[in-house]
Amino acid sequence: MVTIHDLKAWKAEGRRFTMLTAYDFPTAQILDRAGVPVLLVGDSVGNNVLGYPDTLAVTMEEILHHTKAVARGVEHAMLVADMPFLSYQVSVEEGVRNAGRLVKEGGAHAVKIEGAHLELVQRLVEIGVPVMAHVGLTPQSVHAMGGYRVQGRGEAAHRVAEEAEQLEKAGAFSIVLEAMPADLAAEITRSVEVPTIGIGAGAACDAQVLVLHDLLGINERVPKLAKKFADVRGVMTQAATRFIDEVASGAFPDADHSYE
Ligand code: KIV
Repeated sequence: MVTIHDLKAWKAEGRRFTMLTAYDFPTAQILDRAGVPVLLVGDSVGNNVLGYPDTLAVTMEEILHHTKAVARGVEHAMLVADMPFLSYQVSVEEGVRNAGRLVKEGGAHAVKIEGAHLELVQRLVEIGVPVMAHVGLTPQSVHAMGGYRVQGRGEAAHRVAEEAEQLEKAGAFSIVLEAMPADLAAEITRSVEVPTIGIGAGAACDAQVLVLHDLLGINERVPKLAKKFADVRGVMTQAATRFIDEVASGAFPDADHSYE
């Protein structure tokens, strides 16, 4: 089983690693067996699986439901569950209770929290819940940011770098750096001892994360920060079309797929 100590050791060795989102059992099993060391039940389940326009509507119950499914498919990977919008911002107590549910009921090994919620991070680490931090573009603040924009340009770089350092001090075991200039991500990666996990943050990060539906090409549009490594949308369309055609022509089911 991959642990937070492995990730820190990999950074020290200069061994780059990966994280992918997973939202269901078979996908978790495939990715785990393929050797992806960290699986994230991202709140991106909202826009990638549930059809929401963004991540804001995702509830604790939805994240729990998907975390439980992914946990059933994981043998080796570290399982990180995202804390959804409004599950941790109201009070530290509520954040602790909800993070605890993701571990206790969901089977997560760690939680991910967007932004610099230092007191909550400290409290969770004290009670034994590892925290992955997330700075730069934090999608739960999409409206405050005025859209999905690159963060940390110019003067703002200092604030992002400071947040990352504070989160490390608060006890975060890794930090996601999303959509920021590559030189800022490189500077943060050098300045913290915990691994940085980049998405749209250049090649200097210790690890890279992608949303699975972008990597597989299930989504119609893939954002600039992601890369399509396959055309699963095309494969699914082709398979469905062949099924329609073979049923229409009578080619399926044939004798091989029928019982005596
Ligand atoms: O929810 C998510 O998928 C994420 C990753 C993009 C880091 O937060």
